[in-house]
Formats: sequence, C-alpha cells, structure tokens
Amino acid sequence: MDKVKLLLGAVAVSSVVIAAEKIILKKPPESLKRYYPPQSQKFEFLSNMYLMSTSFYAVNLNINEGNWDKALEWAEKLRDAYVKTSKMVPEWKEYFKPELAENFVKAVQSKDVDKVVQASKRLGRTCSKCHQENQIAVKLVFHFPSFEEIKLEDPVEFTELKTGDYMRKLSNSMKALRIYLEQGDTEKAQEAGINFVERARGLRAMCSKCHTEKISEEAILGKKYEDALTRIEEVLSGDNPSKEEIYKHLTLVGSACTKCHNVHLIPAMVQEAFAK
Ligand code: HEC
Ligand code: HEC
Ligand code: HEC
Repeated sequence: MDKVKLLLGAVAVSSVVIAAEKIILKKPPESLKRYYPPQSQKFEFLSNMYLMSTSFYAVNLNINEGNWDKALEWAEKLRDAYVKTSKMVPEWKEYFKPELAENFVKAVQSKDVDKVVQASKRLGRTCSKCHQENQIAVKLVFHFPSFEEIKLEDPVEFTELKTGDYMRKLSNSMKALRIYLEQGDTEKAQEAGINFVERARGLRAMCSKCHTEKISEEAILGKKYEDALTRIEEVLSGDNPSKEEIYKHLTLVGSACTKCHNVHLIPAMVQEAFAK
C-alpha cells in the first residue's frame, strides 16, 4: 500500500509554476503561433497537454486499482502524445526526452511500482522544466487577443489612434486638467477637462471590439463612471469650479482606469515587449 501512495505523489505532475526565486519570461517561439488564434482556433498544443496530463493520471488511477492492462494502454497513449508533441515546436525539441516516455511504458509493462515511480518522476521533470520556463509567457501572449490591432477615434482631434497613443492623450489631458486647476488657470482647466471627459467616454468604443457581452463593459465603465464624468463636466462649466469636487470625481474615474489595467495591462505589456 505504501508504494501505491508513493506513486500517487510522484505522478502528480504539476503544470503550475513551482516556487522560484525569480520568474523569467521568454519570448515564445515563432512556430507555436500555428496552434493558437488567429492561425488556428483548435489550440492543438494545449489540447495535447491535457491529453498527456489525463493519461498520466489515468496510469496512476489504474495502477491504484490494480488494473495494469488499462494502465499500460494509457502509458502508451502518453508516450505517443509526448512524441507527437515533441515535433510540434522545433525550437523546443530539447525539452523533450522521448526515451523517458518509452522507459515509462516499459516500467508499467514490468508491473513494478518502484520502477513506475522512478520513470514517472524522470518523465515528469521534463514537463516541469518546460512549464517553469515557458508557461506564463505563453499564457500571457496567446490567451489574450492583442491590443495592438485596436484603433480608437480620438474625439478631440478626430484621428485614428492605436490603444497606447490614445491612452497617452487621455492621461495627458487628465494631467493637464490637474495642472491648470493647481495653477488656478480656469479657462485652460476647462478645456483640458472637457477633452479628458470626451476621451474617457470614447474608451467605451474599445470594449465591444473584443467583448460580445455588454456586461464586461458595464463592470468597469458603468453608471458610476458615466456619472462621475458628467459631474466633472458640470462642475467645470460652472463659474468657479471647485478643485476638491473635481478631484473627488476624478478619483472615481481613476479607479475604473486601474480596474481595466489590472485585467488587461499586464498581458498587453508582455505582448508589446515581445512584439519588438
Ligand atoms: C481596456 C481597458 C482600459 C481602460 C478602461 C483604460 N485603459 Fe489605459 N491602458 C489599457 C491598455 C490595454 C494599455 C496598454 C496599451 C498599449 O501600450 O498598447 C493601457 C495603457 C495606458 C497607459 C500607458 C500608455 C503608454 O504606453 O505609455 C496610460 C497612461 C493609461 N493607459 C491611462 C489610462 C487612463 C488615465 C484611463 C482612464 C481614464 C485608462 N487608461 C483606461 C487599457 C485600458
Ligand atoms: C516544451 C514545453 C512543454 C513540455 C515538455 C510540456 N509542456 Fe505542458 N505546457 C506547456 C505550455 C507552454 C503550456 C501552456 C499552454 C497554454 O496555456 O496554452 C502547457 C500547459 C500544460 C497544461 C495545462 C495547464 C493549464 O491549465 O493551462 C497541462 C495539464 C500540461 N501542460 C501537462 C504537461 C505534461 C503532463 C507534460 C509532460 C508529460 C507536459 N505538459 C510537457 C509546455 C510544455
Ligand atoms: C483586445 C481585446 C480586449 C479589449 C479591447 C477589451 N477586453 Fe476586456 N478582456 C479581454 C480578455 C481576453 C479578457 C479575459 C477574459 C476572457 O478571456 O474572455 C477580458 C476580461 C475582461 C473583464 C473580466 C471578465 C469579463 O469577461 O467580464 C472585464 C470586466 C473586461 N474585460 C472589461 C473590459 C472593458 C471595460 C473594456 C473596454 C474599455 C475591455 N474589456 C476591452 C479582452 C479585451
């Protein structure tokens, strides 16, 4: 029974990154693109991963139930998927050790639990090594559509801008509003503030380029956001705009910016870095 328990532990190949002193994000290889949108909608590489990990667990499960024949079938499935996957991304060939997958099959054939434990550990290490070095970057790059392709019309200058450029103009008009308010330059503050409000409203047009559900947009740019923008407009068009009142509403708007960045900015930053 002890041996079986040992096996359980050893075969549980973690796909999650193990605790580390540092995390490195390596640019995913060119040829991996073939297995992800827009080139393919089938996620062939990822589905092989699921097949391998299911097969790994199936061996474990069947051995624990004493069903060595089924365990062998799954071990062979694992080996075949492993060999097939090793040919999918030439740049990653070195991560795979097909002979270890073959050894694993032989170990299951031998019906010797110790051998299976050893073989599964050695094979499992090849999985973990690649995951540690590549999984996070792959998720960030391939599981998020790119903001690079998204263009937004600037409601102030009537030009088409890329997301990053739009964001810069948006945030500059917000800064200008603050600067002129601090300087007591009401007229300029009004102009900058109105530009900011229009650009902040213009952000909405972006959401539907990826999201089909209105609820995603509402979760961040909902009624509170719209109300805060309207209030900024109203206060600014009054005679003696109150700085404090405007800052109060700006804080609310700013928290929407932060929310959206929390969800979208990190993948966008990683993608941008690798696009160069
Ligand atoms: C989709 C949700 C979203 C919302 C809402 C949003 N941003 Fe952004 N923001 C992004 C993304 C994505 C990027 C990265 C764009 C890029 O660099 O291609 C970004 C980048 C930025 C940048 C860095 C630009 C650069 O590259 O130098 C600033 C500054 C910024 N946003 C300000 C704001 C402000 C201010 C608001 C709110 C008024 C806001 N953002 C609202 C998604 C959002
Ligand atoms: C050459 C690199 C490499 C090797 C070797 C490798 N993997 Fe992966 N694996 C990845 C990458 C990259 C991802 C992330 C793919 C994605 O999210 O689209 C992944 C994802 C997974 C996932 C899915 C995790 C999740 O929920 O997103 C599982 C399960 C998995 N691998 C199991 C295995 C097993 C079991 C082995 C060994 C028998 C293995 N992998 C070998 C690179 C590798
Ligand atoms: C380039 C594509 C893209 C754009 C543009 C975009 N998003 Fe997203 N957003 C995603 C992806 C991808 C996710 C992760 C969830 C998923 O895979 O569907 C996500 C997740 C979210 C989530 C959490 C989960 C959900 O689906 O509701 C919210 C909320 C959200 N986005 C709001 C926004 C808002 C607001 C805007 C416009 C200002 C926006 N997004 C623009 C791609 C995008």
